[in-house]
Amino acid sequence: MMERTYVMIKPDAMQRGLMGDILSRFEARGLKPVAVKLMRIPRELAERHYGEHKGKSFFDPLIEYITSGPCLCMVWEGDNAIQACRQMMGKTNPQDAAPGTVRGDLALQTGRNLIHGSDSPESARREIELFFNDYELVTYERTMDIWMYE
Ligand code: RTP
Ligand code: MG
Repeated sequence: MMERTYVMIKPDAMQRGLMGDILSRFEARGLKPVAVKLMRIPRELAERHYGEHKGKSFFDPLIEYITSGPCLCMVWEGDNAIQACRQMMGKTNPQDAAPGTVRGDLALQTGRNLIHGSDSPESARREIELFFNDYELVTYERTMDIWMYE
């Protein structure tokens, strides 16, 4: 089933120069970029994005972390994209993330885990709407998709 998911490269990945490495994994998997923008996320937006974690012990450090520098905000489209992207990211705690995943290959701590991805169709809808206007979401055909999908 064709899906869209919100993926965000976090400030630690940007500072560490890992943007290209991470992007190339999504591109090579065959996912289609629908929207991409670099953004220093305002505190209010970060708090809305991570609203489900409000009141938890890690909420304040999480907001500090996510607003500490630029993030690369993106929407990727593809067959079962939400789960595919979560799998490519690896478990929340990089110590539990499998080798071959972004977190398993490139990170060591939960509080510096490089990347965010929507965890359900409802979150994807909510997060895409939070970060992008309709005109920023680009619908287009790719000729290579006949080699991605049967
Ligand atoms: P994300 O939302 O960023 O994609 O990560 P996730 O679904 O894998 O994990 P989630 O439970 O939604 O947590 C959001 C982010 O909060 C930080 N965190 N710190 N210290 C802690 O126990 C803790 N737990 C979560 C991480 O940056 C995590 O990605
Ligand atoms: Mg999450």
